Amino acid sequence: MITKQLIDKLDKNKYLNKDEFVYLIDNCGEDSKSYLADKALKQKEAVFGKKIYIRGLIEISNYCKNNCFYCGIRRDNKSICRYRLSKEEILECCRIGYDIGFRTFVMQGAEDDEFPDELLIDIIERINEKYPDCAITLSVGEREKSVYQAFYEAGANRYLLRHETADEEHYRKLHPKSMSLKHRKQCLYDLKKIGYQTGTGFMVGSPFQTSTNLADDLLFIKELNPEMVGIGPYISQKDTPFKNQKSGSLEKTLLMLGLVRLMLPRTLIPSTTALGTISEGGREMGLLAGANVIMPNLSPEGARKLYNLYDNKLHTGLEAAEHLHKLKKKVLSVGQEIVTDRGDYK
Ligand code: 5AD
Repeated sequence: MITKQLIDKLDKNKYLNKDEFVYLIDNCGEDSKSYLADKALKQKEAVFGKKIYIRGLIEISNYCKNNCFYCGIRRDNKSICRYRLSKEEILECCRIGYDIGFRTFVMQGAEDDEFPDELLIDIIERINEKYPDCAITLSVGEREKSVYQAFYEAGANRYLLRHETADEEHYRKLHPKSMSLKHRKQCLYDLKKIGYQTGTGFMVGSPFQTSTNLADDLLFIKELNPEMVGIGPYISQKDTPFKNQKSGSLEKTLLMLGLVRLMLPRTLIPSTTALGTISEGGREMGLLAGANVIMPNLSPEGARKLYNLYDNKLHTGLEAAEHLHKLKKKVLSVGQEIVTDRGDYK
């Protein structure tokens, strides 16, 4: 069967051309999908063994100056309550997280002009002083290179910035005119140049997405060669212009995770909250299809439900950092093991 041959070819060469990727995305049947997931899991285990790394996710602000059509915390959404964590609140999250066993803190936030760079720098320095054995990941959007540099010098090690889609025309359909794919890509190259372990990624099943778009996403990722790749299904959100668009699927997301694992064997790939949100057990399935990272929510209780990128975003139960013991059991039940480790790119 051609699809299995293409999967073997990707596994061997770590590369397929655009037509081959499109063919795979369009023609993978059940059988080939499980063939791919098995190969991806084997590849993940060849590099990382059974280990699953965890990151404590702290959602620092949901004020956003941007207006992305898919996102629930877009500027024009007047029906959500906005919040911004203080330095003390963020440090308290780290204290709690460290005790539970987190050795990476991810500070993720919307593009909030009122959250001063100096304050974030101060927080990064404090976390570094208090927890020198921890990695600090930032995910606060597009910034000047000099600002990225300053964050890095303060002690941030990693940066997440999904490219969202690598196709200009598709990018235009998901974002207002004020944003550009060119600038987003430039940010990613700047981050890499500075020395960050850099993460990019995209949503699966975002409105107007074609198989060719997905193939372009994979080829862009191959070219950038990021240390981390975040992929989750698009999920519609009721207060956005895309509220009536349908969400992405579990199956296609698992397929994309597998392809990225075979293409870039050493990348750190989270099994995302969005995957767990669209399907019960989705996150565990992600771990069996090539993902090797989970990012439980370490934000203060009150903030969690306000960071609603999409409808029904999970933030309780196994998503909650304080229930890590339950998550550990769940992960063990699928034959993998959560470890206390920074989990750096090797
Ligand atoms: N569904 C799924 N993911 C979303 N994101 C934003 N809005 C949605 C949505 N409606 C993702 C984007 C962003 C990340 C923080 O969350 O890819 O980069």
